[in-house]
Amino acid sequence: MSFIEAKGVGHYYFTPTTATEALEDVSFTIEEGEFISFLGPSGCGKTTMLSILAGLITPTTGQVIIDQQTPEDNSNFIGYMLQQDYLFPWKTIEDNILLGLKLNGRLSEETKITALDFLKQIGLENVEKQNPQQLSGGMRQRVALARTMAVNPKLLLLDEPFSALDYQTKLKLEDLVFDILKAYGKTAVLVTHDIGEAISMSDRIFLFSQRPGRIIQEFKVPDELRNLTPFDVRSKESYNQIFQTIWKELESLEKDT
Ligand SMILES: Nc1ncnc2c1ncn2[C@@H]1O[C@H](COP(=O)(O)OP(=O)(O)OP(=O)(O)O)[C@@H](O)[C@H]1O
Ligand SMILES: [Mg+2]
Repeated sequence: MSFIEAKGVGHYYFTPTTATEALEDVSFTIEEGEFISFLGPSGCGKTTMLSILAGLITPTTGQVIIDQQTPEDNSNFIGYMLQQDYLFPWKTIEDNILLGLKLNGRLSEETKITALDFLKQIGLENVEKQNPQQLSGGMRQRVALARTMAVNPKLLLLDEPFSALDYQTKLKLEDLVFDILKAYGKTAVLVTHDIGEAISMSDRIFLFSQRPGRIIQEFKVPDELRNLTPFDVRSKESYNQIFQTIWKELESLEKDT
């Protein structure tokens, strides 16, 4: 059995007068330690699929199994990182980082030391007592990464975590997140609009159709790219080839509307 199995997942959002079909018959498997990206047109249901993996919403049809359990049963072991860092401005960096552990009832001297050591590992020293407003956007996203990793998640869900950053900071953070996830052997699903980011970070890329989102194609990133850091991937010839292929697919999807 695969680490993650999604079978026939469909989802409708209902309001008193409307029903919006966000996803239709989405099935996939993900192995432990894999890095997967979701690419697709705006509004095609990518965030909805992440929320289903996170156990935040229950799909209208189909099911998801993570590590042989439901997403709800795993919810303390799933880390979610978003475009905005959602750090609490009135709490120190340390309190922000330890919050998840506190909420899960897993805060101990040991988990605290590990979480604060992690901050140093990602190049943030002496910021524990500061507030988020005192840090740059890139530093804040690193704090968000530390907060996500603090609960030692089995699965990381990354919803456009780099898209609000300037280009240089974004490239540096892609490398950092890639190195950390590989070092810890984490399984991750990234939603992005950036084809280059998807290719440079992932093992496989799932391309979603227009809403209602279905997976219409899966791209396997060539082996010679998968072990390089995202920055180095971008300078390879095979990167350009797969970029062109995915670009054309996305373009033809957008023409269909
Ligand atoms: N809470 C909600 N209530 C009603 N409709 C919703 C809700 N959340 C999302 N939708 C609708 O469901 C569809 C899919 O939304 P979703 O946010 O999953 O797309 P997305 O692929 O993440 O888009 P983007 O790339 O713009 O972030 C959209 O049409 C959206 O308007
Ligand atoms: Mg989204």
